[in-house]
Order: sequence, then structure tokens, then C-alpha cells
Amino acid sequence: MKGLYLHEAARENLNCEDENQFLTLLAKKGNFEVMTQRVIRGATAWLYPAENPGDMEFFFVHTGEMEIVLGEGETRRIGPGDSFYTQGLSRNVLMRCLEDAMLVYVSTCPAFDEQDYWQKELRALMRRVDEYDHNTKRHSRAVMRYAVRLYEALADQLDDGKIELEGFIVAALFHDVGKCNVPGSILRKKSKLTPEEYEIVKCHPCDSATILKPMYGEKIANITLMHHERMDGSGYPQGLSGDQIPMEARILMVADSFDAMTSERGYNRVMGLEEAAEEIVSQNHLYDPLVAQTLLKLVKSGQIKREEETEN
Ligand SMILES: [Fe+2]
Ligand SMILES: [Fe+2]
Repeated sequence: MKGLYLHEAARENLNCEDENQFLTLLAKKGNFEVMTQRVIRGATAWLYPAENPGDMEFFFVHTGEMEIVLGEGETRRIGPGDSFYTQGLSRNVLMRCLEDAMLVYVSTCPAFDEQDYWQKELRALMRRVDEYDHNTKRHSRAVMRYAVRLYEALADQLDDGKIELEGFIVAALFHDVGKCNVPGSILRKKSKLTPEEYEIVKCHPCDSATILKPMYGEKIANITLMHHERMDGSGYPQGLSGDQIPMEARILMVADSFDAMTSERGYNRVMGLEEAAEEIVSQNHLYDPLVAQTLLKLVKSGQIKREEETEN
């Protein structure tokens, strides 16, 4: 019938998906877009300030449960039937998906194409890690989740030039993407590496930074570059120490070591969470004492739990 537009769910050209989110464009008139957004439990989504402060984005929760991070430890849970909209938002706002959710998303500015672009780029990078090594995939996600908890708890310790949480998540998630250049026979070796093999592994922070820099800029690339540095200068690749290492990198160092100590890698003793956090606290020459203490506090209070292996 003339004037009636029926949406067919399987029309692929209207969908943009990554492994955690699935955005479908239902209707578009000029800049005005109506979409549905499916978000998988455990995934994060972002609200961004619109380029034009007059633009509005409206969200209605059809199913599932989300948590909006308002900052300074304040969060708000929303569930089926709840809705909200943004207009003149002053900064990025993080949303966590607590239960698989389906949102109705209406925007007065074009959002679909831009999200499609970012999701494709991130997806390509993530696929590179996923296809290369199963443990790197699991480890990357676990480190990102631990690092985000620490970043949130230490937000007031970060200086004005800090990397926003959104960029920090990229740095944490892709800190080991450079391992894709390490031969699988070395990466998956169960016995001790030879000095030559270890030298090859030590290239991965530089390779991660090289991959990320053109896409996400120097600041984010630098955080990944420094994730194996240590406070006393004994780390690699640059042997930086103390104040030369920014807070974001100190957080990533702790999150990275914490997951390495508490997960099965085939050749290590798997430590309990509290035991590992205490071990990191005791190594105050290697790790930032405040970050280490914060980790221990978050573990003891149950705010950091073991990141189980998931497929998302
Ligand atoms: Fe690494
Ligand atoms: Fe790592």
C-alpha cells in the first residue's frame, strides 16, 4: 500500500553488527533515524555528545537490563519500559549491559552510518586477535574488564590530560594485538622460552602500538606500548620508570599481571584472586602501590570477580 513501509527483519543491508551489538535501521527521513539496538550481556555501549547540541537521541528499553554509569561511583539501572533521551550531553556516558537487551533508538542526527563504520573497524581488529590465539582473546577481554574497574575507582587520580574511558577501553582490549606478529609456536609454547624467543615476544607492545596509532592516535597507542614497563625501570620495551609511566599504563600493567596470575595458561600455578592481588601489592617496586592497593580493595569487596571465559 502506498505510504506504508513494512520492516523486514532479515534485510541485511540495514543491519550493522559487531559481536556484542546489533544495530538495525528501521526507518529514516532526512537526518531522523529510528533503530533497534540489541546489546549482549557484559557488553558496553556509549552515549556521545552530539555535534549539534540541539540534536536528541531517545532510547526505550524493550527487554533486558542496562546500567548507566553517571560517574563518581554513581550508576542507574534501567529495565523494560524505562526510557531516556540525551540532548546537549556534555561528555561521553558509559552504559553496561547487565542482561541481553533490546532498545528502541530514535535519533534526530544520523547515527547509523557512523556506528557502522566504528563497529566494522573494531570488529576487524577483534577478529584479528580472535582468529590468532584463543588465550589472547580471553585474556584481552578479562584485562579490559579488570582495567575498567580500576580506572573507574582511580578516576580522581587521573590528570587533566587523561585518556577518556572510551579510549582506555580500546588500549586495554587491544594491548596484546601485536602478539599476532609472534609465531604461534612461540606464543603457545608450554616450556620456558629461549632468550631468542623471548626477544621476539618482547616486540609485541611496540607492534600493538604500531597497529593502534593510525586508528586511535598516539596517546592510546602509548598506553599499550607501556604495558610491560615496571615502576623500577626493569620492564620493556623502553625501560621507563616512575613518573615516566602515566597512570593509565600503570593500571593496565596491574590488570595485565593480575589476569596472568589468576588464569590457566598451561604452565603456571593459577592463583586465587586475593592471593594474586596481595602478591602485586607486595611487589611495590614493580607496580604502582596505589593501583595495587585499589585492586586488593576491589577484590576483597567483591567488585572485582574472576572473569569467566565467555564467548562474547
Ligand atoms: Fe603483553
Ligand atoms: Fe597482556
